[in-house]
Amino acid sequence: MPTVTYVDFQGQSTELDLAEGMTIMQGAVMNGVEGIEGECSGSCACATCHCYVDDAWLAKLPEMSENEEEMLEDTASERKTNSRLSCQIKATATMNGIVIHMPEEQE
Ligand code: FES
Repeated sequence: MPTVTYVDFQGQSTELDLAEGMTIMQGAVMNGVEGIEGECSGSCACATCHCYVDDAWLAKLPEMSENEEEMLEDTASERKTNSRLSCQIKATATMNGIVIHMPEEQE
């Protein structure tokens, strides 16, 4: 089970063990971690699951789709070079220890 650390905008962190295949967004929403909303339930259609992936992990993630790339143009908080949509990142064993930072706002 990959361990994911979610760090909210105030710097408080929450560590969760996610089942493989579960997305980073699902892990947050199902466990009541605030800062990731996931309004479209993972359809890559809302951008309320925007997150910043810790730089050390960025290169280990699958490339983003064209659709994710487009949705990231419409985030409530600033888009950065490490911005991703957390509903498009599935937890895998190689991701064990990943750190996800939440933006200031999602809407
Ligand atoms: S949950 Fe809507 S884009 Fe990720």
